[in-house]
Amino acid sequence: MSNLLTVRNLKVTDLRTQAEIIHGVSFELKKNSCLGIVGESGSGKSMTAKAILGLTNPWLCSEGTAELSDGHGVLDLLQQDESTLRSIRGQRICMILQDAMSAFDPLERIGSQMSETFIENKGICRSEAMNMVVEALQMINMPEPEQVLKKYSHQLSGGMLQRCMVATALAMKPDIIVADEPTTALDSINQRLVVEEFKLLRQEMGTALIFISHDLGVVQHLADQLLVMRCGEPVEYGEARSIFKTPQHEYTKYLIDSRLEMSKSFQKAMKRGEVSA
Ligand SMILES: Nc1ncnc2c1ncn2[C@@H]1O[C@H](COP(=O)(O)OP(=O)(O)OP(=O)(O)O)[C@@H](O)[C@H]1O
Ligand SMILES: [Mg+2]
Repeated sequence: MSNLLTVRNLKVTDLRTQAEIIHGVSFELKKNSCLGIVGESGSGKSMTAKAILGLTNPWLCSEGTAELSDGHGVLDLLQQDESTLRSIRGQRICMILQDAMSAFDPLERIGSQMSETFIENKGICRSEAMNMVVEALQMINMPEPEQVLKKYSHQLSGGMLQRCMVATALAMKPDIIVADEPTTALDSINQRLVVEEFKLLRQEMGTALIFISHDLGVVQHLADQLLVMRCGEPVEYGEARSIFKTPQHEYTKYLIDSRLEMSKSFQKAMKRGEVSA
């Protein structure tokens, strides 16, 4: 199957200092597959995702290619203007940002912000969009969705905002969801629920996923391919199953040993079948 997204030799440089932050990352994302990106804090996971989507600050310069395919041709995301990128971000690729609080406008109610995304990108009217918001919130098991959508971002917890963002991305049913630590602020029940929703969307819609996480247990459960990053460098890339089984790089071994220990409870719950597969 051809690639949905092909990233080649992505580099990001801070023009203020000329320091290179990302040193040549390459990966491929196929339809209906999940790429996990792991690595310690500051290793460049978020920067890689943001660079591909044109969401970096103006002082950052991205090089390389990030070709998005629509089945007929390809479009290099790094060469597109802001308005093209904006429509791609709305319709074909949705990003769940790591910092949920900053993703919402503090002066506008959550419901109207979520519905705005649906109105702009789905061409539906306000009342249809509001219904979609409620459905989206119900899908991720948000208690009292009608109350939540009337709230402002400062009135919700980090975990609730994160779930609002996840709900928006899921409801958009894009070709690709880029989820940057989408479950870090969630308790284990909601974490499992969100992971299951991602899996379902993938099964039903063929949505591809780039899943960035510290939690190797969750990544192991979801990812087909794995990219391990350290200090802006890709240290290992390949089939997730074989990397988890026989990591080639010392750093990957270290990450797996130290992190799997922490996420054993998640794995155990999955094995006990507390969540349907
Ligand atoms: N806006 C920015 N301008 C310049 N440098 C930045 C900016 N944001 C991040 N960096 C630098 O880029 C590097 C990678 O940061 P990034 O946020 O991608 O790490 P990360 O792997 O996502 O970490 P975490 O797991 O903590 O989220 C870090 O050295 C960071 O200092
Ligand atoms: Mg990050």
